Amino acid sequence: MNKMKVLNLYYSTTGNTEKVAKKIEEAVKELGHEVDTVKITKKDTELDILQYDFVFVGSGVYMWLPGKPLQELFMSLLAKYNGTGDIKATSPKRPQSNAVVYCTYGGGHTGINEAIPTVKYMGQLFDHLGYNIIAEWYIVGEYVTED
Ligand SMILES: Cc1cc2nc3c(=O)[nH]c(=O)nc-3n(C[C@H](O)[C@H](O)[C@H](O)COP(=O)(O)O)c2cc1C
Repeated sequence: MNKMKVLNLYYSTTGNTEKVAKKIEEAVKELGHEVDTVKITKKDTELDILQYDFVFVGSGVYMWLPGKPLQELFMSLLAKYNGTGDIKATSPKRPQSNAVVYCTYGGGHTGINEAIPTVKYMGQLFDHLGYNIIAEWYIVGEYVTED
């Protein structure tokens, strides 16, 4: 397989998603690909998603959705790629570009249903850009509380 340029993008507040992201980084390196691991901390519109053939994106689930900083980043990236014309009507596929979207979640109330909106939300930016979403992972994470 050709050497790929992989983006490993994630948001994590209590460390569960970070553990998954670290494993992804290890596995991608082991397979001989190049990987940039980016933990979202604030709006970072410098991030150039389109230079990556393969993207992993993950977040914890907080009130059914990804973390606020991830949402803000995605809204600014959406605006950026609308502005550059990279998001086109009917979102034609970029055949070489793939994404895996995942979350870690507790599921204590409604199980996977309270995690589905998070993964669908994150997937939409890539869907709009024409990436093929080749997998969606729902990973049960430890519910870390202060007491
Ligand atoms: C403030 C808060 C809100 C949460 N809301 C949900 C939720 O709506 N649904 C759910 O399944 N899990 C929920 N959880 C559990 C987290 O999704 C789970 O612990 C996840 O693995 C956290 O990811 P992180 O450790 O990468 O931050 C919540 C956790 C916290 C701390």
